[in-house]
Amino acid sequence: MTEIHAASAAADVAAPASHRTPAAPTAPGDQWWRSAVIYQIYPRSFRDANGDGIGDLPGIIDGLPALAHLGVDAVWLSPFMTSPQRDAGYDVADYRDVDPIFGTLADYDRLVEVAHALGLRVIVDLVPNHSSSDHPWFQAALAAAPGSPERARYLFRDGRGPAGDEPPNNWESVFGGGAWTRVSEADGTPGQWYLHVFDSTQPDFDWTNPEVRAEFEDILRFWLDRGTDGFRVDVAHGMIKEEGLPDFVPNPSEGSMGGGEQDPPFFGQDGVHEIYRAWHRVLEEYDGERVLCAEAWVSPLSRMARWVRPDEMQQAFNFPYSGTDWDAAALRSVIDESLEAFGAVGAPSTWVLSNHDLVRHTTRLSLTAENPQGAGLGPRSVGIPEPDQALGRARAASTLMLALPGGAYLYQGEELGLPEVTDLPDEARQDPSFFRTNGERYGRDGCRVPLPWEATGAAFGFNDSGASWLPMPGDWGRYARSAQAGVEGSTLELYRTLLGLRREHGLAHADLVWHEDQEAGVLAFTVGAVTVVANTGSNPVSLPGYGSLVASSDPSVSDGAELLPPDVTVWLTGAA
Ligand code: GLC
Ligand code: CA
Repeated sequence: MTEIHAASAAADVAAPASHRTPAAPTAPGDQWWRSAVIYQIYPRSFRDANGDGIGDLPGIIDGLPALAHLGVDAVWLSPFMTSPQRDAGYDVADYRDVDPIFGTLADYDRLVEVAHALGLRVIVDLVPNHSSSDHPWFQAALAAAPGSPERARYLFRDGRGPAGDEPPNNWESVFGGGAWTRVSEADGTPGQWYLHVFDSTQPDFDWTNPEVRAEFEDILRFWLDRGTDGFRVDVAHGMIKEEGLPDFVPNPSEGSMGGGEQDPPFFGQDGVHEIYRAWHRVLEEYDGERVLCAEAWVSPLSRMARWVRPDEMQQAFNFPYSGTDWDAAALRSVIDESLEAFGAVGAPSTWVLSNHDLVRHTTRLSLTAENPQGAGLGPRSVGIPEPDQALGRARAASTLMLALPGGAYLYQGEELGLPEVTDLPDEARQDPSFFRTNGERYGRDGCRVPLPWEATGAAFGFNDSGASWLPMPGDWGRYARSAQAGVEGSTLELYRTLLGLRREHGLAHADLVWHEDQEAGVLAFTVGAVTVVANTGSNPVSLPGYGSLVASSDPSVSDGAELLPPDVTVWLTGAA
């Protein structure tokens, strides 16, 4: 591995030609992922090197030194493989290549090399539940006859009713509308139906087919051979469907498909675990402690923990945590439940507040009306807070999260304090769920707006051309990285301070001990050498003498302060 200086990393590294690139260096047994802070890059919106308005891999390479400086351990890249982009890349047409809008495989190899030289690991988003309808396998399935081996890689079924014109069962798409689409057979007559739990351009694979399993193990090796440190596994609770594809019969208390505790028959089936055991064995053949992280929307946490048993994945996103309000009692119980559930299987808990599917937590945690999480926000939404007013609470929540033992996930832009963009015009929206619900759900575009790097310029340094695949708000410059770097009290410097202290004090590996008898709304605990006090209530509380203040989410609260205002979290060391 070449030693390169952060600032010149991008320029100095030649593209590696050979496969079997090693992962980032790890001492054997380090289990780096137990403590890692992993930064999610959404490639479309991170940084655009060629000025076409869509972020790309060369842009990411340019931005990596800033992430190393921030102090994260790894980056996870949302999908950049060949795709018609019907679901922003979560619809893959070729799992072994880079989409031309993002660059080339050579760019990817260079990205891995630059990241590793900066001490950052690289995690790739793998989408195994479904492919794009442009995938050659699906095209072959459409061209082939019912009952053919080509159709058997997906879930084609005859329709119900005498003419087969009703879908095979009652399943609904997560994005709205039905989960089945009917095809025309070669002779032009209406034919079979295929299952798509998401958009109709995202046909679900049949994971009971050994050919599908072999294909994905080969895809894993393809990226592992290039030095990839691990995979974030998309819809990791979805690949196996209940045998016979029965109708979903929700409990009377449950609402929509998959919205509550009860899994629909296409989620949370036990059969998925054998797949991850096999993948675990593939990763074990490689050096450098490669990892799998599950996107598994199952509850409760004790069930989610099955995805991270010792012979399966290493991490799972803690969605019950991201779904918890800014409320001391609720936070305490989800933290306890997380540590217990993951601890019971020997896995670290993870913590996450934002990602590319959720309303940004700056905005979300301050929503006063019925919280429309998952549906997105737009002009018809009520209760949207002013960004400046909401930022304090978001910073307090992040300051709390980054003290918790285990791994943490950051979503690009949260370190800048970006709010959700809530006024995107309908014409600009791209999320398929907006269209599949006829605009009833705004969808996820509001958290996907490109990042501001510079305070000025048409696209605030996202690129030089001013083009942007989603419009950037006119005041986006005030959140720019350059406007916050080195500025005391900025959100960026707060994150950098917290990440540094977290590492210095080994918080990820320490035990958490609660301080009882706090005032209502106050959360207080000690992790290793650091005591954390958070005020989720609406009145100032007295700050007990737990030690000297080393970090505060609110710059106006400094060492020696006697009061902790609402929506502030502080870290203290060396109990007085
Ligand atoms: C996951 C992704 C989401 C995507 C969906 C379908 O939930 O995070 O962005 O739309 O899977 O692949
Ligand atoms: Ca571009």
